[in-house]
Parts: sequence; structure tokens; C-alpha cells
Amino acid sequence: MSYVFDEAKQEAAQLVLDALSSQGLRLKDARLVPTKDAQHGSLASSACFGAAKQLKTTPPLLAEKLASKISLSQSRYFASVTAMNGYLNFTYSQQFYYETLSQIASSSEKPTPTKSPSSYAPYGSNASGKGKTIVLEYSQPNVGKPMHVGHIRSTIIGDCFRRLYAFNGWKAVSMNYLGDSGMQVAKLLLAIELFQDMPEPKNEKIMLEYYVKIHQKIAEDPELEKKARQLLEKIEVGDPATLKNVRYIREKSYQAFQRNYDLLGVSFDEVIGESAFIEDSKKVVQEAVKRGIASKEKTGETLAKLEPQLPNTVLLRSNGTTLYLTRDVSLAEYKHQKYRFEKSVVFTAAEQNLHFRQLLRLLELFGKPYASTYHHVGFGTIDLPSGKMSTRKGNVVFLEDVLNEAIGFALKEVQSRQQAYAPETQQEIARSVGIAALKYSVLRIQMEKNIVFVPEEAVKFDGNTASYLQYMAVRAKNVFRKGKISQLPSLPTSYAFNSKEQELVSLLSFYPSVVSSSANSFSPQALCDYAFKLATCFSSFYDACPVLKAETDEAKAARLHLVKSTQGVLESALGLLGIQVPERM
Ligand code: ARG
Repeated sequence: MSYVFDEAKQEAAQLVLDALSSQGLRLKDARLVPTKDAQHGSLASSACFGAAKQLKTTPPLLAEKLASKISLSQSRYFASVTAMNGYLNFTYSQQFYYETLSQIASSSEKPTPTKSPSSYAPYGSNASGKGKTIVLEYSQPNVGKPMHVGHIRSTIIGDCFRRLYAFNGWKAVSMNYLGDSGMQVAKLLLAIELFQDMPEPKNEKIMLEYYVKIHQKIAEDPELEKKARQLLEKIEVGDPATLKNVRYIREKSYQAFQRNYDLLGVSFDEVIGESAFIEDSKKVVQEAVKRGIASKEKTGETLAKLEPQLPNTVLLRSNGTTLYLTRDVSLAEYKHQKYRFEKSVVFTAAEQNLHFRQLLRLLELFGKPYASTYHHVGFGTIDLPSGKMSTRKGNVVFLEDVLNEAIGFALKEVQSRQQAYAPETQQEIARSVGIAALKYSVLRIQMEKNIVFVPEEAVKFDGNTASYLQYMAVRAKNVFRKGKISQLPSLPTSYAFNSKEQELVSLLSFYPSVVSSSANSFSPQALCDYAFKLATCFSSFYDACPVLKAETDEAKAARLHLVKSTQGVLESALGLLGIQVPERM
């Protein structure tokens, strides 16, 4: 599918390059970008800045000359071109706005989290990933402990990329790699032995209580501590009977995690535990020694030599057990064998950056062909204003509590705005708003930065919040409800769009490029920024241009198209972020 914006850009580029070539200079790139200010036209070319020197003139003089050479009498998308301080500014013709809106109207299906747009092509999607597979690894909590907020950030970000990549035509596989071979699991194994049963882990609190119970027992009795260590060793040497029990604990714990995933609307194609890679990772060590990547030290450990670029790292302890990193090498190979991916990404807290740099280096040293397509994205912390959220020292913050708090604040907001709604409707809106608030608060911040999640701020209906965006999409929907319009009238062919309308259509025309660039540069915040800009632009259009009471039938039809397109694009962008738009707000 080729989008109107891309075609227009191509047309302008050709005009610039042809004009330069008439001056005797052949270039490949017309350096075109959308302008920030409509006063400067629609698309600006900075080609004259590079070209002037070669043509022994100045950028302003060259721009003047080219502007006078370029003829737009045959142009499809441009009405004028002017020179301004060395730039060449192209201004869209009415045809551009007409074609953009028609294109949106003819491709307005909603994205889905898993289906690649192969059989259908919703506006904004592309087929750049056609036939390619990406494996996205996210969430990845540790069994036996509650999910901490780092896992929550990873869950929200990973899920967004799953949607984005699927929308870009990729086969996007989501994987949840659970930490199930640490001390906490050994303690739970002991708990099962001692207490005989495990409670139904209806939520994370019940799991934690069970964990705390065994923890206390162990603290009272050093013999039990010893037993737990032995069990850990049994896990790490891969004792089959022990691993069977590990699997049981993992499945039980997962029931508690599942509640969080259900709340967030997140699902996985594959869930696998670290313990599945214990056997295989021993072979990794042998292979590393054989290839001279690692060697056995006097201390008995097998050490991989990564210096001077990176710190050396232990692959096998002296007691014959493997480590987190060793298992990650096996996991990478497993993923590649199984999915033959073109790209693989792991999302974790930035604390693990070094671990992943070491992993990628090891894959390189092993000569893995997929080493350069294996990526790690690390992100900052997320805190509540009252202090750090952490699972250590018992000041645990449960996702469920965070969401309930956000939903509570959202309910207050809805109650004060929509007193006429039935309590169930208010509750339903508050749920959607609360969950969206957390997701948007995570996604709109650059990955590297830390986040402070302030629930009462995040659910406000104005400002850069999910609620504001949801509210704008609902407002757009309401136009149709209020006007009792079920069928969109056809778009008038010769309508002259005013400047407010032009601004909105221009923004709508960028959506496809925002979708592809936020996927390629792993930047959900670009999509958030876009959605916010679109909502703000829509609001100012809506204040200035009456829709149902438009001056003429033509204006009414054109504006209904604008409202419908904005609603569709806003809903699509929010859908990619994992945010639903309620029917009413
Ligand atoms: N379970 C780990 C943790 O909670 C994260 C796993 C990340 N993925 C990986 N392939 N190492 O820290």
C-alpha cells in the first residue's frame, strides 16, 4: 500500500532533484521534512544547503532560482513552492487533503493484537514485515514472588511492541521467560514438603503469604536453611524429580500472574521457565571451552574471557552448576531453532544492561548468525510518589493495588463529570480509564528515563493523559451519535479545506510513518506524542469548525469525514498502545 503522504513526498523530491539536475547537479536526496509551522508551507526541502557550495552560490540564491524553475502546473499534490531562507517550501494542493481523507475512509479497519494485516490493510499499517518473524520476550517475572514493577513496565512495553510489529506485517511471537530456578523456588519446594499443600494462588498476595510462611520457618531453623540449599542444588543440577515439582510451582504461580495479564489484556504465545535450559546450558559451557572462549580457572570455575571490552563472566560454578547468563545463551539458540526469527528483542529493567551486553558478545564469539539481530531494550525504574516500589523488605506494591487505586481516582473523576450515568456505567468507564492511565504513563516516557506514576494525575481528563485521549475519541464518536448519522456521506470532490481542517488532515497523513518509525526505533513514546498532538489538534478544529451545524452541506460532509478519520486514527493509535476506547465517557 502506498500512502498519500509518501507519494506527495516523492513528488516533491522529484521536483527538487530535477530542478537541481537542470543546474548540472545530480543528487539522490531532496532532504524533505514536514514543516512545523503552516506559514512555511507543508513540506520543506533543505537540499540547497548542501548543493549551494557545489554550485558555487548561496543557499538563499539557489532556493530562489529553483523555486522559479519548478513548475507545478502538472502537480498532483502541490499548489505552490516558495524559497525561504535557503529552504524550498512546498504547500499542499486541495487534492492532497481530498486524497488523504479518501484513503483513510477506504481502509478503516481496527488493528488487532495478533493478526498481521495481510488480508486487510487498516490505515497506518504496512507490510514491511511480511514473511518475517520477530520474537518479543517480556514480562518474565520470577516464580514464587510477586511481579515487581520492573516486570510491569516490561509487560506493558512488550505488549505494545507485539501489537506494533504485527501491525507492520511481522509475525510477532510473544514469549514469557519465567525465573524458576532461584532460591525462592527452592524454598517453595521445601514448603510443599513441609506443609503438604499449596493454597489456590487466586492472587499474588496469597502466593506471597505462602512464601513468607516458609521464609519464617526457615529463619527459625538452620536445618531447613540447609535443606533449601540442597533443593536449590537439585534444581541446578537438573534433577528430574525436582524439576517436576518446579514445574508444578511454576504453573501455580502463573495462575496469580495470569490475573494481572487479564487485567492488562496481555497474552503470550509461549511461556517457558529458566529451568528448561539447565541441561542445555551445560553443553554451552563445553562448547565455549572447546572454542577457547572460556577456560577452567584454578578456583574451579569456568570463566568466559570478555576483557578488555567487558568484564569476564563465570559460565559454570565450581560445583558444576550453570548461571543466569549461561542459560540465556541456550535460550537464544532455542528461540532461533524454533522460530527462525529475523529479529529478537528482550525487554528488561536497565539493571540488566551489562548482562545483555555480555550475552550479545558471547553470541558473537560463538559465531551465531543471529547475534546481530538479537536485541535488548533496557528501561528505567517506575516508582509511586510515596517511595520506591520494591519486593524487598516486605514493602511490596502489588499491581492489583496500583490499578485499583488508579480506578478509584478515575471513578471520582467520572462521578464529578458524568453524574447522570448509572453507577455501573461509571464503574465501567473508571476501569477502562484506570488501566489505560497506567499503560500510557509507562509508554509515553522515554525508555531510559525513570517514571513516577501518580495515579490521581494520570486519570485526569485534561493534560497529556490516556483519559484525555480516550475522551477525545469518545467526543468524536458522539458527533455521529448526536447527529444520528449511521452512514458517512461521500466526500465532496471539490471542497476547499480551511486552514484548521488542513492542519488536521496533514497530521492524519503522517500516521503511517509514525507507526513504522516507532516500531523501528523501539519508541512507543513517538506514538504517544503523535496521539496527543492529534487529540489537541482535533479539539481546536472542533472548537473552531461546526460539524453538524456546518455552513453548507459540503462542509458538513467534509467535516464528518474529518471527525470519523480522526476517531479512527486515534482509536488505532490507542489500540496499538493497548488502550481501549470506551463507548461513553
Ligand atoms: N526473570 C528475570 C528477572 O526477573 C528476567 C528475565 C529476562 N530475560 C532473559 N532472557 N534473561 O530479572
